[in-house]
Amino acid sequence: MDPSVYVLLNNHFGILIALRDSGLTWQPISILHVSLLITIITNMSCLLIFYQLLCLLLFCLSSQPTLSSSSFAPSATPLCSHNEASALMKFKSSFSIKQTAPGECKDTSTPSYPKTDSWKEGIDCCSWDGVTCDNKTGQVIGLDLCCSWLYGVIPSNSSLFHLPHLQNLNLAYNDFNGSKMSSEFAQFTSLMQLNLTGSVFAGQIPLQISHLSKLVSLDLSWNYPQALDERTLAGLVQNLTEE
Ligand SMILES: *[C@@H]1O[C@H](CO)[C@@H](O)[C@H](O)[C@H]1NC(C)=O
Ligand SMILES: *[C@@H]1O[C@H](CO)[C@@H](O)[C@H](O)[C@H]1NC(C)=O
Ligand SMILES: *[C@@H]1O[C@H](CO)[C@@H](O)[C@H](O)[C@H]1NC(C)=O
Ligand SMILES: *[C@@H]1O[C@H](CO)[C@@H](O)[C@H](O)[C@H]1NC(C)=O
Ligand SMILES: *[C@@H]1O[C@H](CO)[C@@H](O)[C@H](O)[C@H]1NC(C)=O
Repeated sequence: MDPSVYVLLNNHFGILIALRDSGLTWQPISILHVSLLITIITNMSCLLIFYQLLCLLLFCLSSQPTLSSSSFAPSATPLCSHNEASALMKFKSSFSIKQTAPGECKDTSTPSYPKTDSWKEGIDCCSWDGVTCDNKTGQVIGLDLCCSWLYGVIPSNSSLFHLPHLQNLNLAYNDFNGSKMSSEFAQFTSLMQLNLTGSVFAGQIPLQISHLSKLVSLDLSWNYPQALDERTLAGLVQNLTEE
């Protein structure tokens, strides 16, 4: 694995870092008012799982191989585990719903509505709005609650952190009311995408974020001024470029 990595730093209201391997193009995003945006792409990321999760999004639009869908089709899709369903329900109930509908949801034409409203106990959580499960194991690997009107804090004992298999977490454009970013985010060891943009986090980015060695993309832009310790940054870059 050749980690040909490019690092871009910009300190105007924050930091923009792009690590990429050759063959992928990085489209710079305007960083005006961005307190922190880190986007990281490694060679690893363009392998199979990454394609399934991320090709729709930003980076790999031009070069994906065709996957044979039949080789993936399981005969019976496993259901969401009780533990994970219950963690999701607890997470849902820790918020109130407040229609903030920030302009960004409109700008990016992201549908803006309370996704968690449709979550019901007794229905397989893999079919809940915003939840993605692994087809083979039924583990919750994706949670996309962007523009979902969530209002409240995410404490370090949040049941969110009881979803250990998450690979993709998008909580962008909700109102976490100045929550500190918990060091528990570092528990998501499989996390490839973390997107907390515009979601009213505040305070220092925890040092432990550098443990997320599978990270492909980290978007913490449009939050209250956040500080990223140099050691965190150095650790992150170091961990991401290993392997
Ligand atoms: C998992 O199942 C969904 C829905 O049936 C399907 O769209 C998706 O392609 C499957 N993913 C894989 C990796 O087979
Ligand atoms: C949000 O923060 C304000 C100011 O700190 C506080 O008064 C309020 O109770 C908080 N609301 C929630 C839902 O946490
Ligand atoms: C988290 O801890 C607080 C006290 O610090 C407690 O009131 C709350 O019930 C706990 N929440 C969960 C989900 O365990
Ligand atoms: C890299 O990540 C591991 C855990 O995945 C952690 O123990 C280690 O401290 C990290 N290294 C740095 C330099 O942050
Ligand atoms: C984060 O999510 C927002 C809303 O979906 C999206 O506009 C933005 O591009 C995402 N950031 C990254 C780095 O993917």
